[in-house]
Amino acid sequence: MSHGIKHVAIIMDGNGRWANQRLRPRVWGHVRGSTVVSDIVQAADDLGVEALTLYAFSTENWSRPSQEVGALFRLLHKFLLKERKRLLANKVSFRVIGNTTRLPQDTKDLIAKLETETKDFAGLKLTFCFSYGGRMELVHAMNSFITANPGKEITEEDVQDHLMRPETGDVDLLIRTGGEQRVSNFLLWQIAYAELCFTPTKWPDFTARELKRIVESVSKRERRFGGLPAAADKNLPRPEVQSIHVQ
Ligand code: IPE
Ligand code: IPE
Ligand code: MG
Repeated sequence: MSHGIKHVAIIMDGNGRWANQRLRPRVWGHVRGSTVVSDIVQAADDLGVEALTLYAFSTENWSRPSQEVGALFRLLHKFLLKERKRLLANKVSFRVIGNTTRLPQDTKDLIAKLETETKDFAGLKLTFCFSYGGRMELVHAMNSFITANPGKEITEEDVQDHLMRPETGDVDLLIRTGGEQRVSNFLLWQIAYAELCFTPTKWPDFTARELKRIVESVSKRERRFGGLPAAADKNLPRPEVQSIHVQ
């Protein structure tokens, strides 16, 4: 994989505005948006990405009208039914993270079945964040650590190990569609060193081509992780010839 981007996370935003621009109800935008998801899963797989994490419904989205929330639930259910065969055929390892207790029982059953069926697959790690919040995940991680290790001081590794899907690791590239430039409580721990990309394209218009373009362009950025640019290292005076004194 030449682009070096292993984990892509996407905030799939802009469905409502996409529909309103077309004088349709917001739910229409969600319906169209849900059809884009399978293309993007396929595209990420084709690009050789190892993990794709999609923000489908936030803990804050519960404040939306119940009719919209219900529609999003039904779309998740439909997606699971429609995509199951393809996910199995492509050896995609599928997980839902978030607080799914309020989902209808048949959807919960469908999720559990698909997670069990795909858990040992070595293909793309696909994660749906549903009724998910980054703060909620961190609180969950800390509580689960404390319960297992009463009285012990928590480390960064402990937090990482107790996340809802630890094996997907840090995010390399965070994309938000829909033009807003904020994180909206998504993967707060995992995006510490992510490259950020905000595109004005609303989610129903997002394509495999745009994803590929973003991955290619972001892979040219230099990620320094707090270090120095690779080229600068060579030009720096060596410590013994450096004459600057820090007071
Ligand atoms: C993203 O689209 C999907 C969800 C948050 C569930 P929105 O519904 O937020 O669409 P806009 O941002 O209002 O256009
Ligand atoms: C973020 O979008 C959540 C999802 C895309 C699922 P929102 O539309 O809910 O975020 P805000 O309200 O603009 O921050
Ligand atoms: Mg939005």
